[in-house]
Amino acid sequence: MGDVEKTEFNLPPDTTRGMGRPDGSSVDPSVQPTDRDIETNLRPKSLDEFIGQPKVRNQLDLVLTSARNRGTAPDHVLLSGPPGLGKTTMAMIIAQEMGTSLRMTSGPALERAGDLAAMLSNLMEGDVLFIDEIHRMARPAEEMLYMAMEDFRIDVIVGKGPGATSIPLEIAPFTLVGATTRSGMLTGPLRDRFGFTAQMEYYSAEDLTRVVTRAARIMDVPIDAEAAAEIASRSRGTPRIANRLLRRVRDFAEVTSNGHIDLGATKEALVVFDVDELGLDRLDRAVLSALIKGHGGGPVGVGTLALAVGEEPSTVEEVCEPYLVRAGMVARTGRGRVATVTAWRHLGLQPPDTAPGLF
Ligand SMILES: Nc1ncnc2c1ncn2[C@@H]1O[C@H](COP(=O)(O)OP(=O)(O)O)[C@@H](O)[C@H]1O
Ligand SMILES: [Mg+2]
Repeated sequence: MGDVEKTEFNLPPDTTRGMGRPDGSSVDPSVQPTDRDIETNLRPKSLDEFIGQPKVRNQLDLVLTSARNRGTAPDHVLLSGPPGLGKTTMAMIIAQEMGTSLRMTSGPALERAGDLAAMLSNLMEGDVLFIDEIHRMARPAEEMLYMAMEDFRIDVIVGKGPGATSIPLEIAPFTLVGATTRSGMLTGPLRDRFGFTAQMEYYSAEDLTRVVTRAARIMDVPIDAEAAAEIASRSRGTPRIANRLLRRVRDFAEVTSNGHIDLGATKEALVVFDVDELGLDRLDRAVLSALIKGHGGGPVGVGTLALAVGEEPSTVEEVCEPYLVRAGMVARTGRGRVATVTAWRHLGLQPPDTAPGLF
């Protein structure tokens, strides 16, 4: 395998667009990096650097290596899983590994078929088109995408009414990478056109510890091993949260002592920032509280819970709920959400006999 040449798609060297400086440095030393800059610098740039998700990594490695060997664009890839697990990062890595450019857009931005046509017709051979939140794409755009994915061809409608004509347009062979937090909301025809679906899972505590340790090294923040493990264990299996908690603990350590992050500083900082031992934040606890104190433990619909905590139902459903379910605190039933014994106890309350136990 080592003697196989990497396929070049003959593109301008702009593959790192939007990915920040690879070494994580800043050009002007007086400029302090913002949280957003740090987020960009923390993104792993290759499959080898990507921590965790061994299954997805192995499968993608096969798909990409084989495509490289054949000199073709890899099959379309669907990345599915809760927010913050590395879907956008993985899309960037796919382009990086193929040595091609990444074009980014998102489902909500593709309101009309014309929006998508403009993106598609600008693609160059081998480009990776990343559509984030692909389940939120408008129907006409989605239908145009079917043909683009299958035949690298679209029909552009010119004009209106009876005089409208459809002009066929060839597009360069590309790889679509779609990301979704709600794979269940994808239509069958769209799902069927992806050659490979990667299901991103929550990270183990060990993998998250490596994420924290790596991030601290890049940010040049000294951290003890047990402090990294503590941050990891409170990060709800999610690298984005791990990196965010690390930044807040760093703030705390820098302001209250010499900036060295030890276990004591970590625990104190997480109290200050309202993150409990299980990693639940204020919103998670508000949802639990609405469910238990407001509705006797349920069953209650997501819409009602969202209203009670002042959030969008989609936020409660896509951000809070998956982890509450995984932590065994909330059960989904046909009639709504139910708090488990664990959830009652977590709020320091005596569960009723009717509360499901689970474990
Ligand atoms: N496997 C990983 N190893 C290290 N850091 C990661 C990993 N996956 C994600 N991250 C970090 O978490 C953050 C969120 O990842 P992102 O790809 O934006 O998630 P998603 O698109 O799934 O919401 C990124 O800034 C990145 O630094
Ligand atoms: Mg993303």
